[in-house]
Amino acid sequence: MALTQSGSTRDGWSSRTAFILAAIGSAVGLGNLVRFPAEAGANGGGAFVMFYILCVILIGLPVLLSETLIGRHGQAAAPESFRKVAEHSGKSTAWEHVASLGVFSAFVVLSFYCVLGGWVLYYIGTFVGDLFSTGVVGGAFSDSTVAEVEALFPAMISDGITTSILDLVFLGITLFFVARGVSGGIEKVALYLMPAFFVLLVGITIYGMFGGAMGQTVDYLFTFEPEKLTGPVMLAAVGQAFFSLSLGVAGMVTYGAYVGRNVNLGVTSGIIASADTMVALLAGLCIFPIVFAAGLSPNGGLGLMFQTLPHAFQEIPGGSLIGLAFFIMVGFAALTSSVALMEVPTAWIIDRFRFTRAVASGMVTVFAGALGVLCALSTGVLAGFHPLAFFPMFEGMGMLDAMDTLTGKITMPIGALLTSIFVGWIANKRLVDSENGLGGALHVFWRFLVCWLCPIALAAILLVGVFPSFI
Ligand code: PHE
Repeated sequence: MALTQSGSTRDGWSSRTAFILAAIGSAVGLGNLVRFPAEAGANGGGAFVMFYILCVILIGLPVLLSETLIGRHGQAAAPESFRKVAEHSGKSTAWEHVASLGVFSAFVVLSFYCVLGGWVLYYIGTFVGDLFSTGVVGGAFSDSTVAEVEALFPAMISDGITTSILDLVFLGITLFFVARGVSGGIEKVALYLMPAFFVLLVGITIYGMFGGAMGQTVDYLFTFEPEKLTGPVMLAAVGQAFFSLSLGVAGMVTYGAYVGRNVNLGVTSGIIASADTMVALLAGLCIFPIVFAAGLSPNGGLGLMFQTLPHAFQEIPGGSLIGLAFFIMVGFAALTSSVALMEVPTAWIIDRFRFTRAVASGMVTVFAGALGVLCALSTGVLAGFHPLAFFPMFEGMGMLDAMDTLTGKITMPIGALLTSIFVGWIANKRLVDSENGLGGALHVFWRFLVCWLCPIALAAILLVGVFPSFI
């Protein structure tokens, strides 16, 4: 094996660009394209968007830098990296369990994320079929009514066999890249798919500028109405910011472990967070003009992507082709994220049990497939199975919703909270300072954010996540 970026014979990124693209690939995903527009739409637009940007800068970015610096110092799977930083700081190695929790979260998120990836595959297939049957000219699904197009989504999610198979296909594609290693597989997927993703995103946004309701979209997304900034809106924004930046699952610790010493982590974290935020905003600027131009409401949650948009593609010229390009783009983004999610438990199994990469990633796939099928069935035959219903906050939730809530509202915020405490208060200051690449006032500001603002804000999210009646 050649000497890599990390300066050892251990597999690693072949260049700084490869790391940046892979980390952006991890961050940019269904969170940006599906969750961000849905949350912005559900939380009233501008106030949410402005507060979201503030959260990325003040909470997301400091935790992102904290995670990557732990990984780079440890040069190992996430728990081992935490352990090394703790050891070098003369503190208890029990801190490694922060990362063990992250490994658990990444595994659970991977399981349901691939179900959504499967839904995207289904829509890619549907648009391909439409392109063949009705041609490029005119809108998509020209031989179907609006009601028929909107009915595609409930029909798909209740068909457990199809969604389970597609979940396993998406998981299999993810395995294909993870099994080939960091420089041979994971960075290749980012190197090719991320540029293709950006071209598609910019292309569809430009289409929206000319063909869609761009003025109305800009007003909607960027008009700040302070009275709309309520407690739940602020919490939705913080939660969205760290889901989107892939924080709290030790993912950035894992990717940081393959980075060489010559890379300035402060600068690269800034690039990653800016790119992720830009994509979220572009996703808004890409989706809402199409939705508004078709006279539809922005407030559709998951239905925005899977019902409102397909309906909107019905209304616009060339809708079959644009719709297909759109869902392919979403599929690319989802794949670079699922690869990152699978790498977290895979790296841990390799480090801990000394299994080969092929065996480790295969094991993760089998278990994530089993949990994923339960999630896939939970919108159909298993809708009545409420696995965590003994906790009030999970009442009435099927497997998919319960896993999303368990990670998004509990385990990921705990992971991010403990990471900021670890870097801010536990780890040796000199060690942290030598890794973070920041100087002067920026360094002082970052310390303040990691020590104070991040723990307090994350503790607040957790409290409200677990006890919603708190606000
Ligand atoms: N950030 C990814 C997205 O926006 C999701 C993700 C979370 C990926 C955690 C990796 C780790 O879709």
